[in-house]
Amino acid sequence: MDSIQVQGGTGLQGTVRIQGSKNATLPILAATLLTGDESYIGNCPRITDVYHMENLLRCLGCKVNWENHGLRIQSSSICENDMPAEAIKSMRSSVFLLGALIGRCGRITLDYPGGCVIGERPINWHMSALEQLGVRFYQDACGLYAVTEGLHGACIKLPFPSVGVTENVILAGVMARGQTCIVGAAREPEITSLCDFLNCCGARIEGMGTDCIHIWGGRPLHGTRYRMEADRIVAGTYLFACIAAGGSCFLEEAPAHQMAAVIHVAEQMGAWCDISPKGIFVQALKKHPVLNHLSTAPYPGFPTDLQSVVLSVLTANEGECLVEERIFENRFRIVEELQKMGASIQILDRHRVLVKGGSILQGTHVEAKELRGGAALVVAGLMAEGNTVIEGKKYIYRGYENICRDLQELGARIVSV
Ligand code: EPU
Repeated sequence: MDSIQVQGGTGLQGTVRIQGSKNATLPILAATLLTGDESYIGNCPRITDVYHMENLLRCLGCKVNWENHGLRIQSSSICENDMPAEAIKSMRSSVFLLGALIGRCGRITLDYPGGCVIGERPINWHMSALEQLGVRFYQDACGLYAVTEGLHGACIKLPFPSVGVTENVILAGVMARGQTCIVGAAREPEITSLCDFLNCCGARIEGMGTDCIHIWGGRPLHGTRYRMEADRIVAGTYLFACIAAGGSCFLEEAPAHQMAAVIHVAEQMGAWCDISPKGIFVQALKKHPVLNHLSTAPYPGFPTDLQSVVLSVLTANEGECLVEERIFENRFRIVEELQKMGASIQILDRHRVLVKGGSILQGTHVEAKELRGGAALVVAGLMAEGNTVIEGKKYIYRGYENICRDLQELGARIVSV
């Protein structure tokens, strides 16, 4: 079976260590291709998406080994073998191979990247940005071929602060001749991590964390040791789990400095948070959460990746809450599952739902259809009366090392079956 069972009604108590960040690790693993050298990436999360990237790097000829909780990657000799279509299609992050392999080899043949079904997720902006750096694309129904006769710097204005496009331009830009400037860049902490990693390898990148990033390309890169920061989305998931179930938890290593918008919403929903460099202590106050409006936005706004989790908690909200999803157009697939548990949620359109609070969720069989929606159903299970069975746990394991172990450590009655 592929399910998780949760017995609701138990408050959470204790300490949980937050795993390394998925969305920071994946582009950095792709970036190790640029060095042609050995790098060690510490605190790598042991999640399916990382295993897929590890597999892809091996297919390309890298030597990749787990050592303790990190990956040692030697990328001195690369063979541009056809990468298995299944691995490429299994996750969105294979798109980083575009920037990395164009930078390293000057060409790449790639099936279209897959990923969670949270929207159409085209790659048009990736292509047009890389074209401005001197890449030509040829496409057919199966995938694309990209080639360059030499990357050159450019000033690239992004139509939207896309995380992946910003990362791909950085990957190619460090290998390009001359300067590249990204205007309207995404400001997510994962971008700062990628730039920090590349700067440790000898690159010169400035402005990360702002909407204007400067890259001085063409500098020789070498391997390095780098430690991944904790995952702000996993930390946020457990923070909201604590509000949902009640109790108090210490989220060890939670990157509070990246979570201002999340902590602000959590406080509005009845949490008391104490922040320190060691993590976040959260105490659920004994009152129903009160929130009337929540809108996702690019960083530093409230992250789309926590929208579903908050949706679960809002079923116990006092009054109504309008939730607006501004990043993806198909991120309300969890609504149907929450309705099966007794939630009162009205879908207004592809970007907005109205949650009528005050429901007491009832445990039942529900289905995870994507990563964050799956984690949100686990949180709903903690709040529900009785037993909740969540099918499709494989989606959750794409991004959470072991959500059952983590929540068990906090006293939840949850098992993977
Ligand atoms: N978009 C386009 N064309 C493009 C690229 C993006 O139209 O060429 C659109 C997307 O369809 C979407 C919006 O732009 O509507 C924003 O997408 P973005 O490129 O910023 O997202 P991403 O790079 O595909 C990363 C994370 C997501 C996270 C988003 C937003 C990784 C591997 N993925 O995706 O994480 O939700 O940024 O913060 O870093 C997750 O972890 O569950 C997850 C989905």
